[in-house]
Amino acid sequence: MDKNTIIRFEHVTKQYDDDPPVLDDVSFEIERGKFYTLLGPSGCGKTTILRLIAGFTEPTEGNIYFNGKVINNVPPNQRQVNTVFQDYALFPHLNVFENVAFGLRIKKMKESEIEVKVKEALRFVNLEGYENREINEMSGGQRQRVAIARAIVNEPEVLLLDEPLSALDLKLRTEMQYELRELQRRLGITFIFVTHDQEEALAMSDEIFVLNKGKIQQSGTPTDIYDEPINRFVAEFIGESNIVPGKMIKDFLVEFAGKQFECVDQGFHPNEPVEIVIRPEDLEITKRDHGKLQVRVDSLLFRGVHYEICCYDQDGNEWLVHSTKKVGVGDEIGLHFDPEAIHVMRLGETEEEFEKRLGAYHEVNHEK
Ligand SMILES: Nc1ncnc2c1ncn2[C@@H]1O[C@H](COP(=O)(O)OP(=O)(O)OP(=O)(O)O)[C@@H](O)[C@H]1O
Ligand SMILES: [Mg+2]
Repeated sequence: MDKNTIIRFEHVTKQYDDDPPVLDDVSFEIERGKFYTLLGPSGCGKTTILRLIAGFTEPTEGNIYFNGKVINNVPPNQRQVNTVFQDYALFPHLNVFENVAFGLRIKKMKESEIEVKVKEALRFVNLEGYENREINEMSGGQRQRVAIARAIVNEPEVLLLDEPLSALDLKLRTEMQYELRELQRRLGITFIFVTHDQEEALAMSDEIFVLNKGKIQQSGTPTDIYDEPINRFVAEFIGESNIVPGKMIKDFLVEFAGKQFECVDQGFHPNEPVEIVIRPEDLEITKRDHGKLQVRVDSLLFRGVHYEICCYDQDGNEWLVHSTKKVGVGDEIGLHFDPEAIHVMRLGETEEEFEKRLGAYHEVNHEK
């Protein structure tokens, strides 16, 4: 194992009774000092992964490693991990100082040392001077920061954050996104952050794991996942997409919407059925006959920065376009796009198969 790897899941399955597994043969590695996000719809297993890392539950099968050692049965208090829960789980009868000091008192740390450490943690989250405040005198965002101070005061190697921003209003939420990202950089420790908000995941993470139904669908940097979604689930979950059925005629030539288009994809079987993804911002509106595709405008919405325009082609495929140009409902228009804007997905491909296929491209290109 790479010495930068801090946590490793090896074929981890978690199952309750005879129900289908909540996590199904999940393997991944977490590197030291990075910001990770677990992203996926409700019930996909995000909190379960955090609970396994924190030691609140054990895997049914497989192994969890921390710094190279199996920790399946190590109790939570002996792990170098702290959790910030969604509801913060602060003690309402203790003031800010005592909430943050709680873990250190359990460890029987000297009073003078506690004083120094609590003040330092509160300074980190910009709450200097709030030591004697009661929890019910703090705003939502401030409580959030107390919860973070209480977790980082223990100097964990890994901080787990389970949807910590979901209770905040949009403006505060955006502010806290910056603060958390900045805090992670300053502390230099590993953050594993859970959200079901794809924009939040794209904005904050070094690496994203997209989960669905107990399986990791795709892992990678925000741009990898946005630009190269490997299947329909990921393409639909991350950002808005146009997904239409197509056929890969040969390398660099794909057919959809009744026409053939130059593309940058290769490595498919001749005439293999595929799915095509084009992002709405990659479609440009032209005069009808100047476009690569001819469509009819069905509806439009003003979204502040751009219009969201919904069109249909002659085959009945829906095309969503983001554009600053205004068009009229019923207009016949053209759509232009570059070959690079077409992303071709193999039907039902898993991450492993996708990686193998990418690896094969790189080898071929290297030889050339
Ligand atoms: N103790 C348990 N017993 C039985 N089933 C459980 C238990 N804990 C969790 N589950 C089930 O495991 C699945 C995954 O739950 P988990 O809490 O990990 O989802 P999540 O991705 O965090 O969802 P959310 O976004 O709603 O928080 C759910 O179907 C849930 O009902
Ligand atoms: Mg959850």
